[in-house]
Amino acid sequence: MITTEVLDPLAFDFLSNLVRERSAIVLQPSKMYLIDARLSPVAKAEGLEDVQALVEMIRKTKNPRLIQTVVEKMTTNETSFFRDLHPFDAIKAQIIPQFIASREKTRQLNIWSNACSSGQEIYSVAMLLRENFPQLKDWRINLIASDLSTEILERAKSGVFNQTEVNRGLPMPYLLKYFTKEGLTWRIKDEIRSMVQFQVVNLITPFPTLPKFDIVFLRNVLIYFDAESKSKILQKIHSQMLSDSYLFLGAAETTLGLTTSLQRVPVHKTFAFQPS
Ligand SMILES: C[S@@+](CC[C@H](N)C(=O)[O-])C[C@H]1O[C@@H](n2cnc3c(N)ncnc32)[C@H](O)[C@@H]1O
Repeated sequence: MITTEVLDPLAFDFLSNLVRERSAIVLQPSKMYLIDARLSPVAKAEGLEDVQALVEMIRKTKNPRLIQTVVEKMTTNETSFFRDLHPFDAIKAQIIPQFIASREKTRQLNIWSNACSSGQEIYSVAMLLRENFPQLKDWRINLIASDLSTEILERAKSGVFNQTEVNRGLPMPYLLKYFTKEGLTWRIKDEIRSMVQFQVVNLITPFPTLPKFDIVFLRNVLIYFDAESKSKILQKIHSQMLSDSYLFLGAAETTLGLTTSLQRVPVHKTFAFQPS
């Protein structure tokens, strides 16, 4: 019999439970084409006929390497430099000047890019600080970027971007000043790359030891999770913040109905969230 289904219902249930348990990502049956597109190459690389065979093999063997690969393949890594711009304008115009005054004694700033994908968000912050705040030169600036995916973190760490990636959101003067062209790609200079530490952090497992953060980015990742996971994650993020820290969610994301411990506050021409 010829079938157009990528997975039978049992295999789909197994896969969606696996991905949800490991990442909180909810797979919709309507996204079967996505499952096929992302997992077919994994099946082929394992010498298997199709995605159904791959899922059956994982069900039997519980192979941790394959499980990690499958979960990572089901993440969406879409990102860009200075994405949505407003949070970066707010950081430049209001938040950093405010912290320069209020953190004068400790002279330390901790900034966290969560679910950082290939690193454009944290590198944008690093360039923004280097470009606009020379007075922070002798401050301790900890820029931490984390993601569940080891593969995407390796890419982020390399600081190498293709032409399409640097064309998206990166102002030309920043490209010329902070990147070196290497053949068809652009490598971010060491003076920026060395400002950032990359770390594996899965939002749904207990966090490793981390400092309290002054600014947290948690953008465009909660959209993939169900309400219960979103609430739990927001609670954990809240416990990593100080009373005057700022949290940025994605433009389409909110804390509404998920937690009362974070309140929406206006900042410059946008809004962020602060502990209530
Ligand atoms: C669409 S990207 C968002 C990138 C960036 N935050 C932005 O807004 O441009 C989503 C990222 O979330 C990561 N991710 C998905 N589930 C995660 C989890 N449970 N813990 C940590 N990161 C996760 C994915 O690996 C992916 O890199």
